[in-house]
Amino acid sequence: MTSASTVFITGASTGIGEACALRLDRIGYTVFAGVRKPEDAARLTAAASPRLRTIRIDVTSAAEIAAAVAELETALEGQGLGALINNAGIAGGGPIEFVPVDVVRRLFEVNVFGMLAVTQACLPLLRAARGRVINMGSIAGKAVTPYVVPYCMSKHAVEALTDGLRLELAGSGIEVSVIEPGAVRTPIWEKGKTSLADAARSLPAVALERYGDKLRFFGKVLAFNNDRGVSPERVADAVVAALRTTPSRTRYLVGRDAKIRALISRLLPDRIGDSLLLKAMARLERDLA
Ligand SMILES: NC(=O)c1ccc[n+]([C@@H]2O[C@H](COP(=O)([O-])OP(=O)(O)OC[C@H]3O[C@@H](n4cnc5c(N)ncnc54)[C@H](OP(=O)(O)O)[C@@H]3O)[C@@H](O)[C@H]2O)c1
Repeated sequence: MTSASTVFITGASTGIGEACALRLDRIGYTVFAGVRKPEDAARLTAAASPRLRTIRIDVTSAAEIAAAVAELETALEGQGLGALINNAGIAGGGPIEFVPVDVVRRLFEVNVFGMLAVTQACLPLLRAARGRVINMGSIAGKAVTPYVVPYCMSKHAVEALTDGLRLELAGSGIEVSVIEPGAVRTPIWEKGKTSLADAARSLPAVALERYGDKLRFFGKVLAFNNDRGVSPERVADAVVAALRTTPSRTRYLVGRDAKIRALISRLLPDRIGDSLLLKAMARLERDLA
């Protein structure tokens, strides 16, 4: 085991994290896969080579982060860590006018503060190996979609965190990248549907009067996005590129939808971009009715 070939990935139980863990294991990396449940640990271990080790970590728990990093340190036997892949994340939304602030806080706890805390805890090991940090962002970190704004806010923060870390670590030998997928077929969409339904249930009557139709439409959009999304393997391709290319690219867009939305937000004035998005949503609303 050389330090360059070691990776720690959070949120490896399902979806993108699982695909990355299994791919990196297949191509020879020593993978430390972060999970929260024993059954996920057992499933991953059974699917991978004996090199892969699971590590229990909830990224919102300071105690679990400390324990996970201590476990990593022991397993690395004095070597540094080749890469940290900050992947754990949750989705969630609701109309800005009424979304409970606690829903937004929870998204930031996992997607932003969790990512920050795990990065801080792993930096001594990453410095020792001149390793890499790869953050799982989203096109939602660049282009906002109404009614899932809390999620977009958290992914915008991931962009800032990644850019800031890259700037502050310039010259340290540590490469920092962000992966920006569009829709990917993973359980997050099903979980998102549930959280949107939960949000709808906790809204006052006036909110349902104003936004009920939109929330129902967005429930359908999530299912539609799941059908249209790229496979998590496509995201794993980008992660492998971010690990193996020197210097790595600062950002990796994944999927046609992500590339189109990034182009629109870069090239077009806001009002034109808004109008294109609202028209596309109205068309989709008619198609899905
Ligand atoms: N799917 C997409 O279309 C898409 C697009 C762009 C970006 N992304 C990003 O990709 C990442 C992975 O999402 P996914 O689509 O693969 O969804 P997923 O299958 O739901 O995976 C999310 C992972 O994060 C873990 N997680 C959630 N809360 C956690 C916490 N507090 N501590 C530690 N782990 C936690 C989950 O663990 P449990 O199983 O224990 O809950 C799971 O392993 C997320 O950051 C997401 O925002 C997804």
